[in-house]
Amino acid sequence: MKTRAAVLRSAQGPFQIEELALEEPRPNELVVRMVAVGMCHTDLLPRELPPEAFGGPNVYGHEGAGIVEAVGADVRSIAPGDAVVLSINSCGTCPTCAASRPPYCYGMPLYNMSGGRPDGTSAFTDAAGERVGSHFFGQSSFAEYSVVAERSVVRVDPGLDLAKLGPLGCGIQTGAGAILNSLEVEEGASVVVGGAGALGMSAIMATRLVGAGTVIAIDLHASRLELAQKYGATHTISGEPDVLAEQIREITGGGADYAFDTTGKAAVVRAMYEGLNVVGTLGMAGVSAGEMTFDYITMISGRTVRGILEGDSFPQEFIPHLAKLNDRGEFPFDDLITTFPIERINEAEAASASGEVIKPVLTFD
Ligand SMILES: NC(=O)c1ccc[n+]([C@@H]2O[C@H](COP(=O)([O-])OP(=O)(O)OC[C@H]3O[C@@H](n4cnc5c(N)ncnc54)[C@H](O)[C@@H]3O)[C@@H](O)[C@H]2O)c1
Ligand SMILES: [Zn+2]
Ligand SMILES: [Zn+2]
Repeated sequence: MKTRAAVLRSAQGPFQIEELALEEPRPNELVVRMVAVGMCHTDLLPRELPPEAFGGPNVYGHEGAGIVEAVGADVRSIAPGDAVVLSINSCGTCPTCAASRPPYCYGMPLYNMSGGRPDGTSAFTDAAGERVGSHFFGQSSFAEYSVVAERSVVRVDPGLDLAKLGPLGCGIQTGAGAILNSLEVEEGASVVVGGAGALGMSAIMATRLVGAGTVIAIDLHASRLELAQKYGATHTISGEPDVLAEQIREITGGGADYAFDTTGKAAVVRAMYEGLNVVGTLGMAGVSAGEMTFDYITMISGRTVRGILEGDSFPQEFIPHLAKLNDRGEFPFDDLITTFPIERINEAEAASASGEVIKPVLTFD
């Protein structure tokens, strides 16, 4: 079978639309015809890594939504014709998978970011017969048709509009899940959200779902801070990191109960930590490299810092739940979406980088 796909051939190069050959699904895989796929910063990770870290031509995309075309011999839970959203892959057998916490699968990098299946094979071949990486987050959904791992697949109500559901597979579930699942923010609590992009804005929307009290949004773009107020921020800060902590303590009257970082900027993260109250909790989801330090005494005095992957989501339950909230108008994450045909994927990336678009979604008409 052949498919149209956006291939990244070098770390800094553009995405190129190519026709690739697609393998048959293995017993625990499916073929999905994508309707729409969100673009998340993690699709652009090669841009931020040293060029030698680039693992070769690859198809990224990990917020797919589409229709199941075919299923492998052992797939029981999903059938051809089902409407699905695609999320993270996981091994299913390690201790954290057994505890229904698949984002923290012991095999997370191998199952999601190794450029192929866990056994090292790939499902895509290019016109010259060369390997192109597949199975990014079990799905490589920047392709019209893709071979997908069964554990990445989440069945959704066929009555819903698939064109907007893809981002639930990563960015939106991470932001909302951070508030609802990871930090378990209570009614009336004060929350600081660092970065008002796709993750941050869905986190802010989720603070409204739990009835949080003071909600402070931090960003550099005035337009995003304005939008943050529409979705639940009671205060906004657009300042230098060295005055952020002071402003947070002032607004909250002594420090925030919770802070959630999506900027991945160490200076912002530290300021948010310093803006916590004595027993406050900081959740970190923004990705960066290197080391991060926190003050020893304030830490042992009662604060908590924790890493958050995918908002502690169990995708097969949490994604349909968020889709239902959206359908009822209580979680309007689709307001953040701007669609581009897959052929305009490079424009979509530029529009996200400039701050003009919060969540690009690529369509396959
Ligand atoms: N942990 C996870 O499971 C997970 C999942 C998805 C994405 N991510 C990561 O989360 C991060 C955010 O993703 P996103 O899609 O929301 O990106 P985004 O670009 O939409 O949002 C990031 C926001 O942070 C703001 N920002 C950046 N630097 C800032 C600074 N110094 N001060 C204030 N604001 C600043 C930007 O203006 C932007 O609005 C990325 O690093 C991404 O790779 C993590
Ligand atoms: Zn596992
Ligand atoms: Zn992502």
